[in-house]
Amino acid sequence: MKAPRSVRQEIDALREALAYHNYRYHVLDDPDVADGDYDVLFDRLSALEDQYPELVSADSPTQRVGAQPKAEFGSVEHESPMLSLDKCTTLDEVVAWDERCRSRLGRVAPLDYSCEPKIDGVAVSLHYARGELALAATRGDGTTGEDITANVRTIAAIPLRLRGDDVPERLEARGEIYLPIAGFHAFNDAARARGDKLLVNPRNGAAGSLRQLDPKITATRPLTLFCYSIGAVQRGPALATQTAVMGALKRWGLRVNPLRATVAGAAACYDYAMKLLDLRAQLAYQIDGVVIKVDALNLQQQLGTITRKPRWAMAYKYPAEEATTQLLGVEFQVGRTGAITPVARLEPVFVGGVTVSNATLHNLTEVQRLGLMIGDTVLVHRAGDVIPQVVKVITARRPADARAVDFPSRCPACGSELFHPDGEAVVRCSGGLACPAQRKEAIRHFASRAALDIEGLGDKLADQLVESQCIDTIADLFSLDAATLTELDRMGEKSATKLVNAITASKSTTLARFIYGLGIRDVGEATALNLAQHFGDFTALRDASVEALLEVDDVGPVVADRVQQFFAEPHNQTVIDALLAAGVHWPAPARATGAPLKGQTWVLTGTLEQMTRDEAKARLIALGAKVASSVSAKSTQVVAGPGAGSKLDRAIELDIPVLDESAFLRRLKSLE
Ligand code: IVH
Repeated sequence: MKAPRSVRQEIDALREALAYHNYRYHVLDDPDVADGDYDVLFDRLSALEDQYPELVSADSPTQRVGAQPKAEFGSVEHESPMLSLDKCTTLDEVVAWDERCRSRLGRVAPLDYSCEPKIDGVAVSLHYARGELALAATRGDGTTGEDITANVRTIAAIPLRLRGDDVPERLEARGEIYLPIAGFHAFNDAARARGDKLLVNPRNGAAGSLRQLDPKITATRPLTLFCYSIGAVQRGPALATQTAVMGALKRWGLRVNPLRATVAGAAACYDYAMKLLDLRAQLAYQIDGVVIKVDALNLQQQLGTITRKPRWAMAYKYPAEEATTQLLGVEFQVGRTGAITPVARLEPVFVGGVTVSNATLHNLTEVQRLGLMIGDTVLVHRAGDVIPQVVKVITARRPADARAVDFPSRCPACGSELFHPDGEAVVRCSGGLACPAQRKEAIRHFASRAALDIEGLGDKLADQLVESQCIDTIADLFSLDAATLTELDRMGEKSATKLVNAITASKSTTLARFIYGLGIRDVGEATALNLAQHFGDFTALRDASVEALLEVDDVGPVVADRVQQFFAEPHNQTVIDALLAAGVHWPAPARATGAPLKGQTWVLTGTLEQMTRDEAKARLIALGAKVASSVSAKSTQVVAGPGAGSKLDRAIELDIPVLDESAFLRRLKSLE
């Protein structure tokens, strides 16, 4: 049956609407329909195409996946070579390069430069013929790449058809396909749960995903792209600068990085690089530096290219976030709740801008998954302020005398038996507070800034107090006197008196701090605050049933059980009674303290590490703020954790103040 005209028209309208929504979502980062509405349009189009298969076209949004698996990739000769870049790492080098450019061009005045984040992904060349995606190829050796069209078609951010009325007859757009950090972690979390191999880093993840012979696999990976240049072009508009090129690419529906900027002179390029470095840990994708390009295309041409590197561009490289080093040994730390954590002792290595000599290995399963042996060369990752991680063993470099990692069968601190709770990856010490390591950690935690905030009681002193058997429990802190303290190593009379005064002063606290300080498993600062606000009174919390606890914001069955069991434990009851008897106290419930953030609109983005997003939201709402899901000119403040992406970019564009998590916590505390 031939399709009626009305069906053809509806199909065209649906395709156009879907392409438009895709463009708003991926390129403008400003969707104006909900995901569900998009799905409705998509499903309608699929249904019509099923009914009238002759109307299916290659650029229909329904046709992204579907190509049959290949036996191998075809090869593609690039019309002009895909170049690489000269690198530098200092201001002096940027200045010297700028001077070389200007002297070759016989120019005194500062040059305009396009500064762009250097995305750590996989370079790709996209060919559009009469606006339709015709071919996609990898960089390969710069001259010949591989045909990855079927895989690239599955990437939703890459348009199958370009938009606008000045689309060139033929266009080769170049850019970088990458795996956003959140997608990388999501993939690894799922792979870990299945016991599958993990991706080493987002770049390898992107490369591996594009190398799949079956596009259905690529389609499951949340890849995306930023375009950064035009290769071959036929019958397109005249473009004079890199800035104009980026504008045109965006107009045509290709994603470009919103953090790109045009600046004048070397010093401004360097400033750009430093500002972007500050944002690096908060971006949704990995960058390894800044690409600085002479903005005027005619000047680029005059400068030319030598040995595959353009004279008109320079990569300013940031410190690598990954480095290889040697594993010297594995030690086992005992945490406050008895969790045994293997820690890698490393040959010191400079990574992510600091020297690293320890990295967490999380748990036994992780050590086994990595297949780690002492003496191995390992790949270490450190980004932002996150604890360094061992991500891979370079087995090819394993020395003949490499030794297996011996996981202890008893607690390294107290010799108690270890146990492996069901459903948990961690192994725990069964010693409870009989274990000195757990006692030390409990005291450190109780004295820490977010808990009772006992000034001068740091890690070393907590260790000393437990080792010298001055105290056993947190309650014993309150019976310490200056005379006992002066018997400790390096403790003078003055410091001893100061400490006793600090301990006494800490008795006056808040209910939330007290609850947090008890060190109940999985009860962080935000949960403690919720518990305090909900119950208002300690006795009510202490006696609360699991059902009553489940009523508290953000308290689920696991936490409710932990809290209930904690208070039911006789040892804990004795310690709590002793704390109360020693005079630890807090003001009567202070619930509504007015609404200091009334009228403000906050946006949370990226990962928060010290609380869940829901907890952060609850605290903001309690202070009177509105919490919105997107950034607009009306936003008052944006809180950006690691992995923040387009919302952070938008906040920067709109000049909305941004707080990182620690500044956010400080702000909350000052208001609560
Ligand atoms: S320009 C001059 N711009 O970096 C031609 N490259 O080391 C070179 N890259 O293979 C490309 N972000 O894969 C350019 N904004 C950007 C880039 C970028 C990442 C990659 C690209 C290239 C490599 C060069």
